[in-house]
Amino acid sequence: MTDLLLTDAAEVVTYADHERFERTEDAAVAVDDGRVVAVGPTAAVTDDYPESDADAVVDCAGRAVVPGFVDPHTHALFAGDRSDEFEAKLRGQTYQEILEAGGGILRTVEAVRAASTDELVANLRDELDVMLAHGTTTAEVKSGYGLDAETELRMLDAIDRAAAEHPVRVVPTFMGAHAVPTGRDADDYVEEVVTEQIPAVAEQGVAAFCDVFCEEGVFDVAQSRRVLEAGIEHGLTPKVHAEELSHLGGTQLAAEVGAASADHLLHATDEDVDALVAADVTPVLLPGTAFGLGAAYADAEAFLDRGAPLALATDLNPNCYSQSMPFAMTLGCVEMGLTPAQALGAATANAARAVDRPDAGRLEPGSPADLAVLDAPSHVHLSYNFGVNPVDTVVVGGEVAHE
Ligand code: NIG
Ligand code: FE
Repeated sequence: MTDLLLTDAAEVVTYADHERFERTEDAAVAVDDGRVVAVGPTAAVTDDYPESDADAVVDCAGRAVVPGFVDPHTHALFAGDRSDEFEAKLRGQTYQEILEAGGGILRTVEAVRAASTDELVANLRDELDVMLAHGTTTAEVKSGYGLDAETELRMLDAIDRAAAEHPVRVVPTFMGAHAVPTGRDADDYVEEVVTEQIPAVAEQGVAAFCDVFCEEGVFDVAQSRRVLEAGIEHGLTPKVHAEELSHLGGTQLAAEVGAASADHLLHATDEDVDALVAADVTPVLLPGTAFGLGAAYADAEAFLDRGAPLALATDLNPNCYSQSMPFAMTLGCVEMGLTPAQALGAATANAARAVDRPDAGRLEPGSPADLAVLDAPSHVHLSYNFGVNPVDTVVVGGEVAHE
């Protein structure tokens, strides 16, 4: 028996990263027990796994099949509405001016603290629905809009609960050091994160990663290092928001502490890129953020030239309101010089590295059967056809999760 058979796809991309791209035309995928058991030319696959023995068959004629996307950087759990800040930014206010005036992250913190945990679960479920519809099958989700032990733990609990009832595979990250709470001193707050929040988060056991916003006017390198080292001591793998709005040194810190990823990197230098490559830290670029802020894009070519496993993410948050990995891929191609194949690799196998899920983002025998059937004949359309959703059917663990 076969649980699911996808037949006659115009193209199946089985694997893509920064160095390798593998695809088969006129192809089929057979799935059993949640995993890919065969992929290749339809005739060959259906010889071994006949349609008559399959519980479900999806005819993919004229359409492409790609690995489900891994979105390795999101703040998908939030409450409230910051659309007025979008208008303020269009009028010329900067992200930092808004944050300094108590808006931005700090405003979302107020809304999250006021929301019940049930409301937070429902909010995240709604965002995950949209992400899934756009082909995301694994998503990292950060806390960081609580900024006190109680609300950070409630956010992680909400992430855990939403994940348990949603097909998208969720990777939870603790980000108590996302901003300095209103009226607090940064050093004093870092002390709270290190001595109170991190031990409680470890005890709760939901978070896998610990992230910090290493940025001018937020947490400096020494403060960020304290947070990440305390996280490591408690079993949380480090990640860093580095060189997003200014150049501060977060990338070198990510390399020194052996972070899984360094993210944003808009202001990274050549030395920073070298340090990441030497330390095998995955660079995660978030072109939607630059697009939304009207800022200059990260230098993707500097990473590709050095053979770095470049990943893309949406950065979904109230400041960058996009759930769509295909949109990030379009920006990766048009604004950062990636090829559509590189953009797909950055959204799948390389993104999986950034969240330590090496099984995700590939469609080889043995891989989890997480995939997207496109409303288009090739992976190129993911980047080419922007402003609409190019994804048709989404399968997670061999089950049709969206159609
Ligand atoms: O990745 N830089 C910090 N965090 C987010 C923004 C969060 C927010 O504005 O609510 C980011 O850009
Ligand atoms: Fe972020």
